[in-house]
Amino acid sequence: MKKVFVKPNLTLFDLSSNEPLFSPKEVLEGLLESEKRLSSKFFYDQVGSDLFQKITELPEYYLTNSEIEILHNNLEEISDLVGENAAVIEFGSGPPLKSRMLMKAIKPSLYLPLDISKSYLLEASKRLAREFSWLQIRAICVDYTRAFQLPFDPEKKRVGCFLGSSLGNFNKSKALDFLIRTKKFLGHGGELLLGVDMKKSAEILDLAYNDSEGITARFNLNILDHINQLCAARFDPANFVHLAGYDENLGCVQMHLVSEVDQKISVLDTEISFSKGEKIHTEDSYKYSCKEIEGLALQAGFSKSVSWFDNKKYFGLFYFS
Ligand code: TRP
Repeated sequence: MKKVFVKPNLTLFDLSSNEPLFSPKEVLEGLLESEKRLSSKFFYDQVGSDLFQKITELPEYYLTNSEIEILHNNLEEISDLVGENAAVIEFGSGPPLKSRMLMKAIKPSLYLPLDISKSYLLEASKRLAREFSWLQIRAICVDYTRAFQLPFDPEKKRVGCFLGSSLGNFNKSKALDFLIRTKKFLGHGGELLLGVDMKKSAEILDLAYNDSEGITARFNLNILDHINQLCAARFDPANFVHLAGYDENLGCVQMHLVSEVDQKISVLDTEISFSKGEKIHTEDSYKYSCKEIEGLALQAGFSKSVSWFDNKKYFGLFYFS
């Protein structure tokens, strides 16, 4: 673990020096499976993070604006629930606007943003530290999808924030595992503010993941450039296309990259063959009904829930305690 004092009110803890966050071996394993896959954590290099930020500003991608609308309308109630003197732990330091709104309203005594991308985490944390000089920030670079421990004990009520529907990127059993692990991690009296994208018509969901400007396609394809850098691979993104669609039975938007030609690609000195039309799975985005998400939280050991929605009921914020 590396500890760096960045500013008087900002310290960075780098847990990635214990265990590498991105292993080239993992990339190869996924590509050698019969149904090829790449983990969605490889989306977020600098270019990927910037493209995702653009996605969140698209009119079709209603998720972020709906969540901001909910935050905006309910900040007072949320900050009353969190109370004073809490340690707010944010899983994934998402669009800066949301963190700013939360910090301003809650005024926690400690803010712990967790993110897998050190550069993104550092930039976002520096900006917050500058704007809120009263806020103590301990930024932690970690892959929070695996079990981990904080390198210190904040000795305060822990409130987790998991916004932006990232829970939907786990399948149902992994989502339950995550909630169980998080419940334990937050400890006695710990609470969780969770963003959830609700089930809705396939038309709306298909549009959200296939915007007319093609930014979503660029975001999905950028994973190949990132893999090229990480694994000395030779993917040509021009030979793949973005594919996303809502499967109503699964309640899930599935993201793929489809090979447009027969091709062989060298990855870490191993040759991977693609036939024309073959897919690489890059991400799932599960959508929930109220009953489903509240049932999952109950199974994970949370007992009380408060929820808020945007006016179209597209997106939900849940507070589990
Ligand atoms: N986690 C985001 C989501 O599920 C990521 C995302 C948005 C995404 N658009 C995408 C991932 C397109 C792959 C392709 O909403």
